Amino acid sequence: MMDHSMHNFSRRLSVAPMLDWTDRHYRYFVRLITRHTLLYTEMVTTAALLHGDRNRLLRFDPAEHPLALQLAGSSPAALAQCARIGAIWGYDEINLNVGCPSDRVQSGRFGACLMAEPQLVAECVAAMKNAVTLPVTVKTRIGIDDRDSYGELLDFVGAQVDAGCDALIVHARKAWLKGLSPKENRDVPPLRYDVVRQLKTDFPALSITINGGITTLAAAADFLTTLDGVMIGREAYHHPWLLADADRLIFGAISPPITRENVLEQFLPYAAKQLAQGVPLSAMSRHLLGLFQGQPGARAWRRQISDNAHRPNAGLAVLALHRQLTDSKE
Ligand SMILES: Cc1cc2nc3c(=O)[nH]c(=O)nc-3n(C[C@H](O)[C@H](O)[C@H](O)COP(=O)(O)O)c2cc1C
Repeated sequence: MMDHSMHNFSRRLSVAPMLDWTDRHYRYFVRLITRHTLLYTEMVTTAALLHGDRNRLLRFDPAEHPLALQLAGSSPAALAQCARIGAIWGYDEINLNVGCPSDRVQSGRFGACLMAEPQLVAECVAAMKNAVTLPVTVKTRIGIDDRDSYGELLDFVGAQVDAGCDALIVHARKAWLKGLSPKENRDVPPLRYDVVRQLKTDFPALSITINGGITTLAAAADFLTTLDGVMIGREAYHHPWLLADADRLIFGAISPPITRENVLEQFLPYAAKQLAQGVPLSAMSRHLLGLFQGQPGARAWRRQISDNAHRPNAGLAVLALHRQLTDSKE
């Protein structure tokens, strides 16, 4: 099996997989802000990938590298097949979702409920490792329901390490599978960064990325003194400019300074190409809403997009009006 990926990458900083948010348009946009931050796809179920529209689910622009494909499922054979497909499409990493608590996901027996089945997850990891030469990683919580002792987490992580898991991403809170909505499960259970640090002490050779509630690069840099990676989700979506200093501060890369206007200008040719292929402007512009957050004209920018991007035949003029908006008073 040939893996087409040729990209060396660092896990020091990543943007979390977020269903409906980290689609290819968001990723292309964020890549204009940071060259080195590892990006993740939305979660893709094995059933969707094996029976659905593969091109729609997997296509991405080469500029999006380094890029990890997140899979959801619990059949070792199906996951192995999907990992192989991901490798052929050129992804840089295959990640297994063991953290998503939604009902739909529980009935399909994947996501966070799999924390209760460490051996099954280990079989999945081993099957994927056998299928590809890419790194295979697991994204998990620190526990589920009342199965949240540190001993159970140790057993879970130990099983994945034995199976060959290359890196672990830990959303540092438990999930309540019954009674809380997915959204509540991202806010209500308290964050336990200490548990993730303890895991690093117990598995010093394992690459461990911490996730949950991290909103600044300064906080990320602080975590990186003891851990291998930091993953940022919601804040990287609502306030993407947060990532503008990442290449320099987190990856030590020398990069020319960029401005929000530069990023927007560079996004326009991409948007033009997508529009020509029939992608509606609103499918792209919705990810740009937070670009000017905290800047003069931010509100007018959001309003401009919200009021106009959904109109039939909305074109690039909607985005090109930005300069005018920021020049005017809010
Ligand atoms: C809209 C949305 C969709 C999400 N979808 C996924 C997903 O597909 N797979 C996954 O592992 N986590 C998903 N998550 C959880 C995030 O990856 C992340 O673990 C969580 O938001 C905590 O990080 P944060 O506090 O930095 O946002 C989602 C989160 C949000 C807000």
